Amino acid sequence: MTDLSLTIRQETTDDALAIERLHERTFGPGRFAKTAYRIREGLEHSLELSFTARIGTLLVGSVRLTPIRVGATPALMLGPLTIEPPFRERGIGQLLIERALAEAKAKGHRLVILVGDEPYYAKCNFRRIPMGRAAMPGPVDPARLLVCELAAGAFEGVAGAIRPDWEAGAVD
Ligand SMILES: CC(C)(COP(=O)(O)OP(=O)(O)OC[C@H]1O[C@@H](n2cnc3c(N)ncnc32)[C@H](O)[C@@H]1OP(=O)(O)O)[C@@H](O)C(=O)NCCC(=O)NCCS
Repeated sequence: MTDLSLTIRQETTDDALAIERLHERTFGPGRFAKTAYRIREGLEHSLELSFTARIGTLLVGSVRLTPIRVGATPALMLGPLTIEPPFRERGIGQLLIERALAEAKAKGHRLVILVGDEPYYAKCNFRRIPMGRAAMPGPVDPARLLVCELAAGAFEGVAGAIRPDWEAGAVD
């Protein structure tokens, strides 16, 4: 019998094309104009902190994390998160986020930022960044700029421009 169980796996270079097609179907060409894309085009996402969801061998979802800085503080940016439409509303998105956050925390990361819907991401402990505290390199609805502390108090005193972390690898 075919095994159709759900598995969450670390992304590999072999997944690149399937994920690109998923992004194209989900977000279309408009994805390149998003402010979050400006961060992601500056630096490769971290494969060891990015995950795919599969039903059997079929890739049905993806989440990526990219190393960034908020001011001088190292952090990660979560996104894109995408689930194939027929497989939505089954908890796969939340599972992918939980796995990525757990792995990031285990590797010593302390902060994750994203641009997204607060009602959805609040379930994974994301909350709104106070207005003016962190600046994306382009227009973003401040109500959608969210942060998750992986260590208690990790966002205290953190402020400044959000940019790719070109020195990534060194976690403080
Ligand atoms: C958003 C997305 C990743 C959710 O994935 P999913 O696997 O369907 O989500 P889950 O099954 O984990 O969670 C479903 C729950 O979240 C809710 N939900 C889904 N999208 C939501 C949103 N944008 N805002 C608020 N709640 C949302 C659902 O109503 C459902 O609620 P329930 O548990 O009370 O029934 C998926 O719909 C998707 O790929 N959308 C297009 C791409 C996108 O918008 N990505 C996010 C960019 S920030």
